[in-house]
Amino acid sequence: MNAFTARDTVARSGFRDLRVVSKVRESTIITSFHMEPVNPRDWRDFEPGQFLVFKIPVPQAAGEKGYVLRNYSVSCSPASKGRYRISVKREAAAAPGLPDGISSCFLHDRIDVGDVLQAEGPRGDFVLDRTSNRPVVLLSGGVGLTPMVSMLYALASMPDRRAVFIHACENGDVHALRDEVTGLVTTRPGLTAHYCYRFPSERDKAEQRFHSEGMISRDVLQGLLPIDDYDFYLCGPPPFMQAIYAMLRELGVPKYRIAYEFFGPATVLEPDAMRIPSVPAQPARVEPVGEATTVEFRKSGLTAVWDGSAASLLDFAENQGLLPEFSCRAGICGTCKSRLILGDVTYFEEPLDELGAGEVLLCCSKPRGSVVLDI
Ligand SMILES: Cc1cc2nc3c(=O)[nH]c(=O)nc-3n(C[C@H](O)[C@H](O)[C@H](O)COP(=O)(O)OP(=O)(O)OC[C@H]3O[C@@H](n4cnc5c(N)ncnc54)[C@H](O)[C@@H]3O)c2cc1C
Ligand code: FES
Repeated sequence: MNAFTARDTVARSGFRDLRVVSKVRESTIITSFHMEPVNPRDWRDFEPGQFLVFKIPVPQAAGEKGYVLRNYSVSCSPASKGRYRISVKREAAAAPGLPDGISSCFLHDRIDVGDVLQAEGPRGDFVLDRTSNRPVVLLSGGVGLTPMVSMLYALASMPDRRAVFIHACENGDVHALRDEVTGLVTTRPGLTAHYCYRFPSERDKAEQRFHSEGMISRDVLQGLLPIDDYDFYLCGPPPFMQAIYAMLRELGVPKYRIAYEFFGPATVLEPDAMRIPSVPAQPARVEPVGEATTVEFRKSGLTAVWDGSAASLLDFAENQGLLPEFSCRAGICGTCKSRLILGDVTYFEEPLDELGAGEVLLCCSKPRGSVVLDI
């Protein structure tokens, strides 16, 4: 979710064929895939921070689609016209008997140079705000560094905007794109990198491959960031996101200066008490005004006037104190699907999968006139 840009951008939809032209092992668990459109006319520029949606084939049981959709952030420079790079962590089963991650293991184990993958996008509003002059802090944990590397490329091409790239991971063996980032921050003054290893190896220590040990702490942040008005970008595993977000808030950073992206279900950034604005135990009924456009949440017993300021029906529901389920907030995963009892909606981001009759995705739609929803 980006605090800096509006969501009302129409996605350019349609899956296209991308051929893998290079496969590079970046660490013991992360591998990059460089891809070019089979048809050069299928190239789409991307903003640093955006992702592609891949259709990954899976064995088809009766009635199933035969594929899963997975997002991967573009990790290369937005100036690299004609070629995307994604960097994928292999999500192996956590314990014997459990299944390996479908898409990441398929890509690592089965995809090689010359293979063709179907992808849609680029999508997503977690993008570097290139119009801002504020210094930037890119904070990532694990494979969450992928959008940050693309952003760092964009920042390095600017003449003087300051940026600090802070990355946390277990140790040097799993640290991907390290030399690339280190090289980028030496291209001009005003760019710095800080690597925090939780469990550095003897080699990491001998070669001084990291700057701090353990978890990113308040002291580390304060030491790296002289008092200023920064734009923060955050991406990593949920515990990392929660801890860093809380730390930034404690340090007085306003919410609207923190943009973040989840690589999984986006439900955990703030403890409930912080996340819910003011949930009415029994939502109050707001009476429609004259001919105003209204949104009725039938199960919740709430009707509210749509004044057009909410970015989506999902945001609108949250503003009323409701908590519909969501994950990608980008029309991809289907988690926010709801039943539209009455009325019609318009999509500012095309849903990737077909919707059944009377179904609506709350995260990427707005009402077209008054609507009644089954939530
Ligand atoms: C906007 C966005 C950008 C992203 N960018 C990147 C990126 O740049 N790089 C990247 O690597 N990832 C990225 N991701 C994450 C990526 O989309 C996938 O979620 C990730 O690769 C895992 O998918 P998978 O199909 O391999 O695993 P899944 O099959 O979805 O499984 C996920 C995990 O659950 C485990 N699991 C599966 N079934 C069970 C079960 N029954 N019991 C217990 N455990 C189980 C698997 O072993 C695996 O570890 C991004 C996600 C989003 C939303
Ligand atoms: S939250 Fe994923 S489609 Fe709406």
